[in-house]
Amino acid sequence: MKTLGIMPPSATGITATAIFLLLTFSSATPISRPFKKIYAFGDSYTDTGNTGSTGAITGPSAFSYVSNLPYGRTFFHHPTNRYSDGRLVIDFVAESLSLPYLPPYLNRKADTSSGINYAVAGSTAIRHGFFVKNNLTFNITPQSLKTQLGWFNKTMEGQKCKTAKSTPEECTAVFRDALVWVGEIGANDYAYSIGSTVAGKTIQLHAIRSVTGFLEAVLDKGAKYIVVQGLPTTGCLTLALYLAPESDRDDIGCVASANNQSYTHNAILQTKIQTLRKKYPEAVIVYLDYWNAYRSIIKNAPKLGFRELYKTCCGSGGGPYNFDLGGTCGSKSASSSCQDPSQYINWDGVHLTEAMYRVVFEMFLKGAFAHPSLECLLRSKQNCG
Ligand SMILES: *[C@@H]1O[C@H](CO)[C@@H](O)[C@H](O)[C@H]1NC(C)=O
Ligand SMILES: *[C@@H]1O[C@H](CO)[C@@H](O)[C@H](O)[C@H]1NC(C)=O
Ligand SMILES: *[C@@H]1O[C@H](CO)[C@@H](O)[C@H](O)[C@H]1NC(C)=O
Repeated sequence: MKTLGIMPPSATGITATAIFLLLTFSSATPISRPFKKIYAFGDSYTDTGNTGSTGAITGPSAFSYVSNLPYGRTFFHHPTNRYSDGRLVIDFVAESLSLPYLPPYLNRKADTSSGINYAVAGSTAIRHGFFVKNNLTFNITPQSLKTQLGWFNKTMEGQKCKTAKSTPEECTAVFRDALVWVGEIGANDYAYSIGSTVAGKTIQLHAIRSVTGFLEAVLDKGAKYIVVQGLPTTGCLTLALYLAPESDRDDIGCVASANNQSYTHNAILQTKIQTLRKKYPEAVIVYLDYWNAYRSIIKNAPKLGFRELYKTCCGSGGGPYNFDLGGTCGSKSASSSCQDPSQYINWDGVHLTEAMYRVVFEMFLKGAFAHPSLECLLRSKQNCG
C-alpha cells in the first residue's frame, strides 16, 4: 500500500473467500428482468462492433487487427470486432437481463428493439477538436463521447424524444424500461497524450468535464437508470508495463504513476456523480469501481484461476509481457494465442480476456464494487443503497 496511500476501504473489504463464493453463482443464470432495453456507451471495453462495421479501423494501428482471429476465438468462435477473445462485460450484462447481445449503432440492419451500443473502440471522453488543437491526431480514433451522444440524440429523435421537457410522455416511455450503461471512458484520452506537452491534469480536467456533461445531457433527456464505470487500474495493462520504466511500480506490480492517475480521475468523477444524484433525485445512478475490482482480482488471482496477470495471451516477443508494438494480436506475428485464455487477465496488451470480463462482471454484481448495488438495480430498478 506504500505507493497508493489513498485506497478506500472497499479495496480490502472483500475477502478471497467472499470472491470464491460469489463465483459459485453462475452469471449465465438470468436474474429477473425489469429492463427491456440497454443503451451503452464507452470505448473498446464496451464496443460490440462499431469499430470495423464501417470497414476502416481508424484508431491506433497496433490495434487494427480486431477483425482477424484469434480475436473472438472463445465463445463466438469467429471475430466479432470485439476487442477480446470472447464476451465483454456488457455481453454478460445483456445475458443477465435475458436480452440479446447489443447491436452496434453503425450496423443499420440490426434489430434495435432491445437496445443499441454506441461505444467505439479508441473513443475519447474529450471531443476530438481538443486533440486536433493540440496536434495529437496521429493514430487516434476521431469518435468521442460527443459523437456517441449525437448518435443517441438521433435515436431518441426517431422515437420522438427530443428532450424530457419538450415531450415528457414519449421520453418517459423510452426510459421507463431502459438501462443506460456508460462503460469505462477516458483511458484513451490519457494514453493519446503520453509524451506530449499536454499535462495529465489538463486531460483530467477536460475528460471529467466531458463525462459529466454527457451524463447531464442523458439525464436531461429523461434517463432514469444509469450505470457509470470508473477507469480500471490502467497501470496494470500490459502496454503500460511495457512502456513505463521498471522503477515505476506499485505494491501489486503495476505502473504506479498510471494507477495513481486513474485512481485520482475516479475520485473526482465520483464527486461529480454525487452532485448529479442530488440534482436528479428521480434517477438511480450506480457507480462501478472498476479500479478496486481489478486490484482485488490481481490480489486474489490464483483463487480465481488466473496464472498470468500481466502477460498477454495474444501477442509476440515472449518474455514477461509477450508484447511487441510491432507484432500485436491478430497481425502476422501474432496470429495464434495462448493455449488457455481463461488463465490470463490480459488478452492483447490493452484489452482483457473473456474470463477476466466475466469475473469483473461478477464482482460488479455480487461484490462490494457497485455503489449503490448493481444487482438490486438489475433485479428491481431500485436504489437499495
Ligand atoms: C498521486 O499523484 C498525486 C498528484 O500527482 C500525488 O500528490 C500523490 O502523492 C500520488 N500518490 C501516490 C501514492 O503516488
Ligand atoms: C505537429 O506534430 C508534428 C509531428 O510531431 C510536427 O512535425 C509538427 O510540426 C507539429 N505541428 C504543430 C503545429 O505543432
Ligand atoms: C444532444 O441533445 C441534447 C438535447 O437533448 C443537446 O443538448 C446536445 O447538444 C445534443 N448533443 C449532440 C452531440 O448532438
